[in-house]
Amino acid sequence: MDAELQEDCSQKDESSIYYDLPDVLRITVEPERNNREETELSKNVMRKQKNWERTLEVKRSKRKEEKKRKKLNRQNKEPNDHQLSKRAIKAEVKERLEGARGAGACLCVDLSMTHCLSDKEISRLAAQIRRLYGSNRKSLNPFHIFLTELREDSRLHQECVRMNDGFLKYLIDVTEDSWFDLFPSEDVVYLTPDANEALECVKDDKIYILGGLVDETIQKKISLSRANEFGVHTARLPIDEYMVKKPNPKNFHSKILAINQVFDILLSFRETRDWTKALLAGFPPGKGYELQTSAASPEGSALLDNSL
Ligand SMILES: C[S@@+](CC[C@H](N)C(=O)[O-])C[C@H]1O[C@@H](n2cnc3c(N)ncnc32)[C@H](O)[C@@H]1O
Repeated sequence: MDAELQEDCSQKDESSIYYDLPDVLRITVEPERNNREETELSKNVMRKQKNWERTLEVKRSKRKEEKKRKKLNRQNKEPNDHQLSKRAIKAEVKERLEGARGAGACLCVDLSMTHCLSDKEISRLAAQIRRLYGSNRKSLNPFHIFLTELREDSRLHQECVRMNDGFLKYLIDVTEDSWFDLFPSEDVVYLTPDANEALECVKDDKIYILGGLVDETIQKKISLSRANEFGVHTARLPIDEYMVKKPNPKNFHSKILAINQVFDILLSFRETRDWTKALLAGFPPGKGYELQTSAASPEGSALLDNSL
């Protein structure tokens, strides 16, 4: 470059130099600068974006933690309605059962005859005891329940513990003694399907005994013989008085019920004082009987209060 040109250049500002550059140079310089700026810009944006996302994530997890903490606090402080009502119901049931144990009508299952039962029948009896207890728990006017002559080392006891949740905590009286040693015989009514007399009422001052038997193969009159042995009153459910045979394809009719079914009918009678209602509610439909259309009225049932 000669001196004249050098001087000329030093007097020009940057832009004029730029414009004086040959076309080729101009074309290559300008996009490069733009690209750098764009890259710088997008790097900034990305950094900011990342920071923002990190902040959001922190906020989100803080909110989650706070929610968890509040929930825990709520659970520890005040039980929710559901828990409260469950606990309240349990307490009420317990109170009713304890009350019945103090002063209620007594229902005793006589387990002195379990040697007559097969293992299968023992299992079924354990299940019936569970159902019977379940019905008593639900009742507003429960019985005081006794299981007599139940030895801890017996098959039935083992089966009850195995099959019935909380059996050892049932609010009932379990004893190895016989009902005959526990209750005055004049207060006892032994319920048996083979009795001549029909049960006409369920009274609070009587002790009703059910035979702890399961009839896989019907063994007639076992409970009747047991009651006669001790000379106590016997009674059957008033099926003949309130029900008639129902036609069915197998022509099957049975008045022998499981102990929990008899128990449900007794509970229902105590509630309604009406055999029609009690049998309607508790008599199993598969036994081939139905209510007579002219079954006695509630007043009719109540008239019989002085008998068994
Ligand atoms: C499955 S039954 C056993 C029947 C058995 N054959 C017997 O000799 O009693 C179990 C118990 O439920 C009671 N039971 C069943 N059906 C009855 C009925 N119709 N009337 C009165 N008690 C009944 C009796 O206490 C009976 O011992």
